[in-house]
Amino acid sequence: MTAPLKTSDPITVDVALGDRSYDIVIGRGILPSLGERIAALRPGARVAIVTDEYVATHWLRRTEASLQGAGIATSRIVVDEGEVSKSYEGIEFVCEELIAAKIERNDLVIALGGGVVGDLAGFAAAIVRRGVDFVQVPTSLLAQVDSSVGGKTGINSPQGKNLIGAFHQPILVVADTAVLDTLSPRQFRAGYAEVAKYGLLGDEAFFAWLETNHAEIVKGGAAREHAIAASCRAKAAIVARDERETGERALLNLGHTFGHALETATGFSDRLYHGEGVSIGMVLAAELSCGLGMIAETDVSRIRRHLAAAGLPTRLQDIAGFGQEGLTDADGLMALMAQDKKVKRGRLTFILLKAIGRAVVTSDVEPATVRDFLAGKLADVRA
Ligand code: GLY
Repeated sequence: MTAPLKTSDPITVDVALGDRSYDIVIGRGILPSLGERIAALRPGARVAIVTDEYVATHWLRRTEASLQGAGIATSRIVVDEGEVSKSYEGIEFVCEELIAAKIERNDLVIALGGGVVGDLAGFAAAIVRRGVDFVQVPTSLLAQVDSSVGGKTGINSPQGKNLIGAFHQPILVVADTAVLDTLSPRQFRAGYAEVAKYGLLGDEAFFAWLETNHAEIVKGGAAREHAIAASCRAKAAIVARDERETGERALLNLGHTFGHALETATGFSDRLYHGEGVSIGMVLAAELSCGLGMIAETDVSRIRRHLAAAGLPTRLQDIAGFGQEGLTDADGLMALMAQDKKVKRGRLTFILLKAIGRAVVTSDVEPATVRDFLAGKLADVRA
């Protein structure tokens, strides 16, 4: 999976949010330029790097070296790896460490890690001293194409995913694509679900390109930068039009209503990574759309085929330990979905598909329809 480490010309994608606009810089081997970029953006700022134990072993020293080489004073805050850190205990720990490190209003937090670290460090930056700036340095594919962009930060409640949080935009995102070479194949595939999501929700040509090129993205050549930049452009355009998710931004949640319920049912554990839940969730959303007469069965098969070809789970029974508590009960899954942030006045918001590349946001699906759909899927598994 590893390609030669060489510096490519970075691609810059602008997130256009007026005086809170920022760049996403994407390129192979650009991590060493982080210090210079930050020194230019915030001269004199001190930096606290928030990361997890796994990422720290691979990338912390190089990140510190880049910052210190640019004359920036650094401190480090290392949290446990995994979703467990996106908790009340996790946010308390990071906030207290930031205060102890004397990070002030003019200083900076760097989130060096995947989606968990980005959400956690971003939320700490949003609330410590009523808000300090932060920079995202995403180290997973999922974080590079989705969670590091757009300013959603937060932690989980025991009652559901991402229920505590704030919108807080970073001032810069630096995505070094070589960093992805150290991901496990499973983590890489899970992140790829979010790449496929952009094709499904709004760009049929991109989806078709992915069908041909997904193996090249894994290998790490120019196709990887292209896929990440295309995903970031799609996300940046939507965020610029609807930062606070009053409408169109909800499209980015394709597959997430089902996916979050599955993640909650599996206890945010290694049984199901976030991207794997999204993959199954996107197939369920496509199948529900098909049942409602919105999308052709041939498109649904094409979606299933591509996600499976990319090595992703596409069915409920693909989840490790399927048959254990929580997953085999349509009413239980409905109850978990009812905790979703996208519930408005008791009605679930679903992102459904009219075709590959044409997603719509709707609150018009009756809960009984979704319940019957899930009960039918579960009955198929048992048959
Ligand atoms: N991950 C969905 C969003 O940022 O809106």
